[in-house]
Amino acid sequence: MTTTTEPAPVRAPLPSNLAGRTAVLLGGTSGIGLAAGELLAASGARIVLAGRDKARLDAAVGRVSAAGTAAEVHGMTADATDEEALEAVFRRAGTVDHVLVTAGGPSGVGPITELTGDAVRAAIQTPAWTAAAVARAAVPHLAPGGSITLASGILVARPRPGMTASISSAGAVETLARALAVEFAPARVRVNAIRFGAMDTPLLRRNYGAAAGPEGDAAMAEAGRGLPLGRFGTAEEAASAALFLMANTYMSGEVLTVDGGQSLL
Ligand SMILES: NC(=O)c1ccc[n+]([C@@H]2O[C@H](COP(=O)([O-])OP(=O)(O)OC[C@H]3O[C@@H](n4cnc5c(N)ncnc54)[C@H](OP(=O)(O)O)[C@@H]3O)[C@@H](O)[C@H]2O)c1
Repeated sequence: MTTTTEPAPVRAPLPSNLAGRTAVLLGGTSGIGLAAGELLAASGARIVLAGRDKARLDAAVGRVSAAGTAAEVHGMTADATDEEALEAVFRRAGTVDHVLVTAGGPSGVGPITELTGDAVRAAIQTPAWTAAAVARAAVPHLAPGGSITLASGILVARPRPGMTASISSAGAVETLARALAVEFAPARVRVNAIRFGAMDTPLLRRNYGAAAGPEGDAAMAEAGRGLPLGRFGTAEEAASAALFLMANTYMSGEVLTVDGGQSLL
């Protein structure tokens, strides 16, 4: 990590300011990460998408390339839990301005006494380790004024039975964001987390057993009706919070909630 005595740069805190900046999206091939790629493309950013599945990656590169006037769109298969794979992603990316980590981990759904010990350990460790591994690999490449954004969820604020392992990991991710904001501040690198409510993505559809397409749309509309705003959030609404945190050069150490009021009820 390169430290500096110069203060962090001041930029107009608008998404238009992301034009020409390089953003690396670990988990950029689906859901919130893919939506962030599309929004960044509309802002004219240079985008590096990474995920494990090659077919999903190729489709995502196509969608992001078609979404706007991206300076460049690159795709790399990588497992974000693997430090060597992360080194390769950041070597290829070169100087990076922003990193978004939406790669999660195993769900670990079930009462903590009924899951196997291995399942509990993996659900607690994987998301927090992934976020830490990405931060370690990214920081030597991040320019002053750059940012890292991590993903959490509102169950941290409103725990539900059967979700203990994954909630614990999300809590660790939030703590990690605040600790890294302090540790990376001398490099003028900002770190934040976003606490997402239930957002309509392939992940949430898997949880509800809902397919992509019109039949799944109807099931998701029905499932979201009881929420404060009468529906789940969209992947774009979630992703726009990530662009806000990237663009605003005075946001650091924050856990931003995007949940349409879900955590209030
Ligand atoms: N959607 C919600 O309602 C919600 C609510 C609260 C929190 N969150 C959190 O927000 C994040 C994004 O959720 P989402 O709904 O966008 O999920 P998603 O649609 O399932 O997308 C997850 C992305 O991460 C990639 N990924 C997963 N593990 C990876 C790994 N080890 N290495 C590299 N890439 C990996 C996936 O691609 P591959 O599988 O091909 O690698 C995919 O591109 C997750 O951390 C999730 O827990 C979501």
